[in-house]
Amino acid sequence: MAFPPAFLDELTARNPIEDVVGQYVTLRRSGGNLFGLCPFHGEKTASFSVAPDKGIYYCFGCHKGGGVINFQMEIEGLSYPDAVRALAKRVGMTVPDDEQYQSRYRQQERLWALHKEAARFFHSQLYAPGGAKALEYALGRGMPKATLTTFGIGYAPNTWDSLVKAMRAKGYTDQELIDSGLVTVAKKNGNIFDRFRDRLMFPIIDVRGNVIGFGGRIMNNDDPNAAKYLNSPETIIFNKRKNLFALNLAKKSKLGYLILVEGYMDAIALHQYGFDCAVASLGTSLTEEHATLLTRYTDQVVLIYDGDEAGQRASARAIPILEKAGLQIRVLKMKDAKDPDEYLKKFGADAFKVLLEDASNRVEYQINAIRRKYDLREDNQRVEFITECAKLIATLPSSIQREIYGRRVAEEGKITYEAMEAEVKKVWKKRQNREKKAEEKRILEPARTTQPKSRTLRYDNVKSARAEESLIAQAMKEPALLDLTEALKPEEFSVPLFSRVYAQMRSRHEAHLAVTMATLEELSAEEASHLALVINSQSGPVNEQAFLDCVRTIQSQHRKANVTTEDDLMAMRKKMQERKGMKL
Ligand code: UTP
Ligand code: MN
Repeated sequence: MAFPPAFLDELTARNPIEDVVGQYVTLRRSGGNLFGLCPFHGEKTASFSVAPDKGIYYCFGCHKGGGVINFQMEIEGLSYPDAVRALAKRVGMTVPDDEQYQSRYRQQERLWALHKEAARFFHSQLYAPGGAKALEYALGRGMPKATLTTFGIGYAPNTWDSLVKAMRAKGYTDQELIDSGLVTVAKKNGNIFDRFRDRLMFPIIDVRGNVIGFGGRIMNNDDPNAAKYLNSPETIIFNKRKNLFALNLAKKSKLGYLILVEGYMDAIALHQYGFDCAVASLGTSLTEEHATLLTRYTDQVVLIYDGDEAGQRASARAIPILEKAGLQIRVLKMKDAKDPDEYLKKFGADAFKVLLEDASNRVEYQINAIRRKYDLREDNQRVEFITECAKLIATLPSSIQREIYGRRVAEEGKITYEAMEAEVKKVWKKRQNREKKAEEKRILEPARTTQPKSRTLRYDNVKSARAEESLIAQAMKEPALLDLTEALKPEEFSVPLFSRVYAQMRSRHEAHLAVTMATLEELSAEEASHLALVINSQSGPVNEQAFLDCVRTIQSQHRKANVTTEDDLMAMRKKMQERKGMKL
């Protein structure tokens, strides 16, 4: 039976692969991935890997791999539908009849459309007579019109029903307006009225480009009880724990890292000053979901929280979450300004660049964080402090840095520098050995350079097949890239598996559904494994240019193949005619 796509989305989102695999295999983290002993073949060293950000598992020993559903099938020997049922049961979901889920999806689609209309409405109000004050406020805060357009900033009029009226006129029902969270229901008579009134409006846009909510800033301080920022409530399309402001733009940045800040205005100012890689959390503290989302676009994050105590506390909370997701972090401290917005306006982009460059005071920051965990007056806690610092120091690439910080920790831990140095060396050697082994394994790993084993997966056109591999792996990581493939048809692929997978990915993306390994259908175990290998080999941030190169290669290889068939046909026809001629 075919399960509704939206159901599979939720099922796979609620069954993170590391949790499901973790029930059967003891996993240890190393960087962004997890490793353990393969449950499918006997082994003593861990060659079984799980990549939570990609939602796949892969064993470098026996080459089994796939998404969470494939894993469930393989480990319990279940059919596809039974594996889906088992995973549903695991998280207490009922397996739906199609009807129910399709209607939920249709409802989501309506809310996306409604939000887009609302964003248009608010933006137009900025230039209406009633919006003059708001426009003046926005310009006065240093946002030129170009910025207002890029971010789709708008104004919610100072009335009770402007939005309600405008949306009703577009054909949205009151129930849809209530579901969108953009209106409030009056307790006494059940009437609905605009939630956002007399506020500067910041649309929140997800990575697929859908407007999913708003933040609204108050522009005067008349009412001391009014919140400075009012945000959309949670709805079926808006979850602030899973979305970041401006990521729809930042994900296209060429800077190679992402900057994480606290406020809407901070993110916008950074973009305006050329740091187009800034994103902001939405008035919540950073969540694991945020961190996982970030890993899809970068492995390096610069954290800039406000200089006040609350900001510093939030920053300290965010660091372990980002680290656990395998991200490299730099922490930037603001001097003489309370937040990045103010800093940029006071000191400009060049001064900010300098700050960014010295944000490598990350080590100091982390040593401080470690120190806070222990009471250095206790001998045993001092030992733990030293051991933990040694682990950190061993990761530093420069020997000067290692010595400077090593000496500092030795002094605080009341041991000699020689003892400290020995400890750091020990940790460092261990790491080196581990890395060397991993490297050897990678070199010995033949799969990437050879044909797939199975005959049904054989590559006839290796050049095209490599481009297809890369295109699929990149699109898995960044489904928005699929927007660039309008001209590329599944028939143009040379490998039937990739052609099928590509067709499924595209239709899911066009339907605004998640594009993940786990949601692909009709894959044999062998195909799933091969695909997991392909996706696993893709590392680092995706790149629009490289992606388009793949599209071009696939198309040109396809054209070539067709031309040759046509040429062959021509030649054959000619021969036939010659033969006929000879007979005559
Ligand atoms: P800040 O108070 O630091 O605001 O809140 P800001 O971003 O610097 O804004 P300006 O410069 O005063 O306009 C940081 C973030 O916390 C959330 C918002 O997401 C805001 O951008 N916040 C703040 C709320 O959700 N509600 C509030 O009442 C205040
Ligand atoms: Mn601010």
